[in-house]
Amino acid sequence: MRLSVPGHKDLRKIVVLNPKGGCGKSTLTVNLSGYLASRGNSVAIMDFDPQGSAMRWLKQRPGNSAPIHGISAFDVRSSATRSWQLRVPNNVRYLVVDSPASVPAENLAELTSGAHAILIPILPSDIDVHAASQLMKDLLLIAKVSRRMGRIGVVANRVRENTLAYRKLMRFLNSLSISLVGVLRDSQHYVHSAEQGLSIHEMHNSRVQRDVERWQPIFGWLEERLETPLTRRDFRRPEVQTEVHQLTMPIGTEKPGT
Ligand SMILES: Nc1ncnc2c1ncn2[C@@H]1O[C@H](COP(=O)(O)OP(=O)(O)OP(=O)(O)O)[C@@H](O)[C@H]1O
Ligand SMILES: [Mg+2]
Repeated sequence: MRLSVPGHKDLRKIVVLNPKGGCGKSTLTVNLSGYLASRGNSVAIMDFDPQGSAMRWLKQRPGNSAPIHGISAFDVRSSATRSWQLRVPNNVRYLVVDSPASVPAENLAELTSGAHAILIPILPSDIDVHAASQLMKDLLLIAKVSRRMGRIGVVANRVRENTLAYRKLMRFLNSLSISLVGVLRDSQHYVHSAEQGLSIHEMHNSRVQRDVERWQPIFGWLEERLETPLTRRDFRRPEVQTEVHQLTMPIGTEKPGT
């Protein structure tokens, strides 16, 4: 079974990942996509989550908002139709991948293969920090992303500063030397904007400004990652190639060197 997604050389792929449920993957996916689209970019969301949250958000999107192409990758069909199903239109420049909760460690290599940026939302709680330390181990040891660490950025989500849980999260991230690329507040603006199929960047409400500003470091980091050309190291390594063919949860863009 062929698992990689047909892509083109100008495609920029951002994978939003953390097998821990409810940490903000879909929230990051839709807000990032809405922002990129509202700036006139051609954007697609690939939704691997069987809950289909990002696809639902797309359906809510008002007709006059910037268009975003949706690809429901969770809806697995026969291998014959699968590559058609996962097809990224040629005009799409940014592909944002929303991944499901509970991704098995052995699928991480393929999920992150060919990604320009890997965004990991983490909640400031003991349970989430513990789960994140397992994820980092899996990314390093099983998915072997160690040589592309620069591609991984953590977003602390639903943060209430000056709490013990937040300080613990900061200590954890410092101990790993992984970039903390953004800190998002716990804010109902994310809930209200999502109900309308909008990103917070598309809300005409001056009160969202405090939350919108929090995204600037994330965009700054992404801009640099997205313009750093992929190398062979950014693709899954050959030793996991055979396992990859047995996986059901796929992705990748163009092959190295194409
Ligand atoms: N910064 C935030 N402030 C307030 N609410 C938030 C924030 N981020 C996410 N949420 C809310 O938390 C819930 C879970 O978020 P989300 O669906 O994005 O997580 P997820 O990681 O995609 O979950 P799953 O693993 O189930 O796919 C949602 O109701 C969302 O609206
Ligand atoms: Mg989700």
